[in-house]
Amino acid sequence: MATATGDTRAFQGGFRDRYLDVLGSVYIYNEHRGYTALDRVLDAVRAVCPDDLAFIKAIEKHRADERKHYLMFKRWFELNHRMPLALDRSVGHIDRFILRAFGCEIDALDTPRIVADPALFEKLCQVIVLTEERGLRQVDVLLANPSVRSDPALTRMFQVIHKDEPDHFVPYRNWLENRGLPAAPWRARLTDFWIHRALILGKIPMIFLDAGLPRMERWPDQE
Ligand SMILES: [Fe+2]
Ligand SMILES: [Fe+2]
Repeated sequence: MATATGDTRAFQGGFRDRYLDVLGSVYIYNEHRGYTALDRVLDAVRAVCPDDLAFIKAIEKHRADERKHYLMFKRWFELNHRMPLALDRSVGHIDRFILRAFGCEIDALDTPRIVADPALFEKLCQVIVLTEERGLRQVDVLLANPSVRSDPALTRMFQVIHKDEPDHFVPYRNWLENRGLPAAPWRARLTDFWIHRALILGKIPMIFLDAGLPRMERWPDQE
């Protein structure tokens, strides 16, 4: 009986560790992807609308927050003495969204052309608004998750992200609404819904079950 209880605890502990490992690996990918993609948006906005200082400042804050989040996850992995799982862009919510909206990978986006074209920039702002709003709702779910709550450092990190997240969609939402444009048209909302579903019900469980998945050998910001 004592052995059976011990086995159950060991199984639960192993499940929790694997869940947090996958969760942290998915987040560190998305945080790194977020701030590096924003670097390019920022360059383009500075070039195309240099007088819109408030908007530029808001994007700078967004970029700085995403870099801060990346560093929090990096530190968390360092404290746990392991590297994140080596995941590719298939776990990136924003990667999938950009692909659906613009038909190309983030790295292939012609950001100066997009920022200079109001119709394309409208689309980009909608993608950012929906991705960040989804991020906030997801953090609400994670902060109620017993496995996350069992790790005080991770809980604190998600509390920080929760506090930062509204600053990541409000500026783009305002930019759209000030021009009478929809921040979240139904078609984009539907795309966001299907991407989230594919990640949560398909991709992430597959990663969880793939015991042979390699780990990163270098930190993404060392590349
Ligand atoms: Fe973030
Ligand atoms: Fe964010």
